[in-house]
Amino acid sequence: MAFFTHQIRRGFSSSAVRSLVIKHVTIIGGGQMGAGIAQVAASTGHTVALVDTSDDILKKSIKAIEGSLKRVAKKKFADKPEAGEEFIQKVLSNLTTSTDDTAAIQHTDLVLEAIVENLKIKQDLFGRLDKLAPAHTIFASNTSSLRISEIASSTNRLDRFGGLHFFNPVPMMKLVEVVGTSSTSQETFDSLLNFGKVLGKTPVSCKDTPGFIVNRLLVPYNMEAIRLHERGHGSKEDIDIAMKLGAGYPMGPFELADYVGLDVIKFIMDGWNALEPDNPLFAQSELLNKLVAEGKYGRKTGEGFYKYK
Ligand SMILES: NC(=O)c1ccc[n+]([C@@H]2O[C@H](COP(=O)([O-])OP(=O)(O)OC[C@H]3O[C@@H](n4cnc5c(N)ncnc54)[C@H](O)[C@@H]3O)[C@@H](O)[C@H]2O)c1
Repeated sequence: MAFFTHQIRRGFSSSAVRSLVIKHVTIIGGGQMGAGIAQVAASTGHTVALVDTSDDILKKSIKAIEGSLKRVAKKKFADKPEAGEEFIQKVLSNLTTSTDDTAAIQHTDLVLEAIVENLKIKQDLFGRLDKLAPAHTIFASNTSSLRISEIASSTNRLDRFGGLHFFNPVPMMKLVEVVGTSSTSQETFDSLLNFGKVLGKTPVSCKDTPGFIVNRLLVPYNMEAIRLHERGHGSKEDIDIAMKLGAGYPMGPFELADYVGLDVIKFIMDGWNALEPDNPLFAQSELLNKLVAEGKYGRKTGEGFYKYK
């Protein structure tokens, strides 16, 4: 796109559609999501600094990225293993890791946060980095359930703050929700949309409302399936079969809940329930609360609605 060739590095372009070309990305949080986003950004020619709290965690993040890249290379370069190895090395050469977030953001175009889902911790992080990051740098959060405007409120760059909500596993999932608050500038929003496209994703525009689009529809659907079962209207197996065969969904709601994590679903619902206690879509489920209290979070703990070996 000509538009990109006319962009000014680390500054907003003067073309009709003003937006920042994001070349250097700092990702804070090297867990499931952060590592996936780092991999995709490095694979699409960005230089990426991946930040976490310890070298041990970062070693695990790089190991996960290498494993994923091997699978990508095996598919992409099935008949040319050397080209596959070259691809892996090229991507890894775009990646650095650090436990020092203030050093990592010195020359960055985008700070994308994928740390623990806790408002106060996210606010503290951005509030601190806001004072140290270059003026042009855009801040974005990958939060699933918190308001972007509340996270951004600890900074003085409300116009350069937005949401980039990726889906797990990031290298496989094609969607990114791009979230603008009432203060996000058009330039910032366009920059984030373009960044999503350059990553090879399909971006959709979202308002800063709970759950954006996908989770706002999916989580209440999941909860209603659980409550349907609690009311004795169907076994979980039958509800899963019904939604797979009747609605063409690849997973039933109980299988999906176990995949996402019952703790994650409960955490999201508790937050929305606190915001809108009278909304029946956000009503509690005793069964879900019980499973979470027993540490049965789904696939990741070996048991949720179903058992996993
Ligand atoms: N897991 C999903 O399916 C999913 C999907 C979309 C969005 N999200 C969102 O992405 C974010 C991260 O989720 P995840 O599943 O990758 O979590 P995770 O627990 O796998 O990873 C979080 C990482 O952040 C690190 N961390 C915590 N505080 C930090 C700090 N102050 N500085 C640097 N690193 C810090 C942790 O050490 C950990 O490695 C959350 O906001 C979550 O809501 C998750």
